[in-house]
Amino acid sequence: MDMVQTEKLVFEYEKRDEEGNVIGTSRAVDEVDLDVKEGQFIAILGHNGSGKSTLAKHINAILVPTEGTMWVNGRNTSEPEELWNVRQSAGMVFQNPDNQIIGTVVEEDVGFGPENLGVPTDEIWQRVEESLKAVGMIEYRHHSPNKLSGGQKQRVAIAGVVAMEPKCIVLDEPTAMLDPVGRKEVLKTVQKLREQKAVTVILITHYMEEVVDADKIYVMDHGHVVMEGTPREIFSRVEELKSYRLDVPQVTLLADELRKRGLKIPSGILRKEELVEELCRLS
Ligand SMILES: Nc1ncnc2c1ncn2[C@@H]1O[C@H](COP(=O)(O)OP(=O)(O)OP(=O)(O)O)[C@@H](O)[C@H]1O
Ligand SMILES: [Mg+2]
Repeated sequence: MDMVQTEKLVFEYEKRDEEGNVIGTSRAVDEVDLDVKEGQFIAILGHNGSGKSTLAKHINAILVPTEGTMWVNGRNTSEPEELWNVRQSAGMVFQNPDNQIIGTVVEEDVGFGPENLGVPTDEIWQRVEESLKAVGMIEYRHHSPNKLSGGQKQRVAIAGVVAMEPKCIVLDEPTAMLDPVGRKEVLKTVQKLREQKAVTVILITHYMEEVVDADKIYVMDHGHVVMEGTPREIFSRVEELKSYRLDVPQVTLLADELRKRGLKIPSGILRKEELVEELCRLS
């Protein structure tokens, strides 16, 4: 089944002068077609300002399309009466964990989401416990979120979304403000959620190494989807990626250099182990 689907989605921000009058529009997302199936792990890449966050905000109807259509779990997000269903189907995790944590105690924070959905109290506590276990933060349930590390805060934010039991989680650069340890914590958490709860995950990131396991990658540039394919397909097109000012995983670049110098190595190498295997095969 389709979890997230768009057809020629366009979004234009209004430009205003100092008095607040609309003086024009700027197109941030331009005729984008997405097709995300239930349970998939999808990555969205793109340079700064390419429209990734604007697109992501459509998935739980923070924004609605200027033109075209977005369906989430079969619901048209432009229809006001679907708002509740859409918000229940898709949860968002943003870049800055500090802006997402509102409770003064971890477990209270995680409970806010389900409480807002009108979940009965007994079930809220059950969900809070389960979600905190799923992100490996149960032993911090009585702590103050302020004292946690960035990675831990982000895991609490993820638990808050998980507690709402969405079918789809959208993470908009969840690791951008974290140190390498925090980044690993968050990614492991997301991976575990996918395995245990079969949730659909849409990950926006600037870190190429985070997307090698994706089922599909979309690359955005100037509001358009300019590339679409499996990680292997996408990372085989090194020059094209560079033209969109994107990095390529280090190991992919190294393999590419070796190939240019005449070694018989296939394109689209994504992991160190694969390169080692190919090199051993040559000798
Ligand atoms: N609230 C806003 N009002 C007007 N223009 C905006 C607004 N938010 C974003 N934009 C513009 O829309 C375009 C797309 O921005 P968006 O934030 O979606 O990009 P992004 O790919 O998420 O970038 P980044 O990698 O920096 O997060 C940019 O040109 C940006 O300046
Ligand atoms: Mg963004």
